[in-house]
Amino acid sequence: MNQFQGSHILSVNQLDLDSIQTIFNVAQKMTPYALREKRTRVLDGAILGNLFFEPSTRTRVSFSCAFDLLGGRVAETVGMANSSLSKGESLYDTARVLSSYSDVIAMRHPQSFSVKEFAEGSRVPVINGGDGANEHPTQALLDLFTIKKELNSNGMTIDGMHIAMVGDLKYGRTVHSLSRLLCMYKNITFTLISPKELAMPDYVIDDIENAGHRVTITDQLEGNLHQADILYLTRIQEERFPSQEEADKYRGKFRLNSAIYTKNCKSNTVIMHPLPRDSRSQANELDNDLNNNPSLAIFRQADNGLLIRMALFALTLGVADQLEQYECPVNWYSRKADR
Ligand code: NCD
Repeated sequence: MNQFQGSHILSVNQLDLDSIQTIFNVAQKMTPYALREKRTRVLDGAILGNLFFEPSTRTRVSFSCAFDLLGGRVAETVGMANSSLSKGESLYDTARVLSSYSDVIAMRHPQSFSVKEFAEGSRVPVINGGDGANEHPTQALLDLFTIKKELNSNGMTIDGMHIAMVGDLKYGRTVHSLSRLLCMYKNITFTLISPKELAMPDYVIDDIENAGHRVTITDQLEGNLHQADILYLTRIQEERFPSQEEADKYRGKFRLNSAIYTKNCKSNTVIMHPLPRDSRSQANELDNDLNNNPSLAIFRQADNGLLIRMALFALTLGVADQLEQYECPVNWYSRKADR
C-alpha cells in the first residue's frame, strides 16, 4: 500500500523528498493520458466531490478533468451561496455528509485551516485546493515539478538555484507552500521582492533560514533579478484585503515585460506565475509581450497541474499501479497528442 492511500493532502508539511518523488513519478506516468494518446478507466465508478467555496478556474477545472481523465465522475459545488454553509451548517457536518456521497474530495475555502477542519469530519481523503492565505499544496507540487523540469532543460538542479519571488508574498498562499517545499533542498538563494506591507510572513522566512538557505528581502524589482534562475510572479490577492482601495495601492507596483526582462534577467531565467495574471492595465504584472518567449513557463506550469492532480487521485485512491490494466483506445480525433 502506498503511503498516500486513504490520506488527506492538507499541507506541504506532510511531505518529504521521497514522497514528493513518488508523486512526481506517478505524475510523469500520467502524461500519455493527459495528452489523449491513451485512456484509462481505472477510476470507473468513483466520484470526486469538487467543492469550491472561492473563485477558481484552473484549480477547480483541473481537479475535475484530472478525475474525468482517470475514468471517474465529478460532483461539483461552487460558491458559498449555493451550499448549506450559507445556512449556518458547520464544515464538520458538510464533510460527514458529502464524504458518504464521494470517494475523494477536493476543496477550496476562503478561511485559513478550514480544509483541515473539514477533513476532520470526512471519511474519505480530502485534498486542499487552497485555504485562505494559508496553503495551496497541490499548486506548490505542480510549481516544484515545473521548476525541476525547466531547470533540468537548462542544465541545472533545484539544489543551488536562485529564485526570485515577486508581488503579494503576504497573502499569496502559493509562495508560502512553495517556499516550504524548497526548504527541503540544498543551498537555495531566495530573493523576496514585495511592498514592505506585503512581505513574506516571518514564519515562512524563519523556515527558509532555519533550513540554511540565503534570503534577501527588498521592495525593488529592477536590480535584483540578475542572478535569478526562476522568477516567480504573483498577483495582488485583492480578495484578502480589507477594501479594494487598499489593494489598489499595490497594483502595478511590479511589472514584468519584455524590455524589463531583457534588461534585468539572464537569457534563460524561467518565468512562472500560478495564474490568473491580472491583465488589467492598472496591474498587468506579467505583460503579454512575453507570451512567445520560450522561458515563459506559465502555460506549461498549468499543464503540469493536471498531471500532479491525476497523480494525487491515483495515489490517494490506491490505483497508481493499475493504470495500464484499465487502458482503452482514444476513439476521437485529438490534437493534444501531436502538440
Ligand atoms: C492561485 C490561488 O488561488 O492561490 N491560483 C491558482 O490556484 N492557480 C493564485 C492566485 O489566485 O493569485
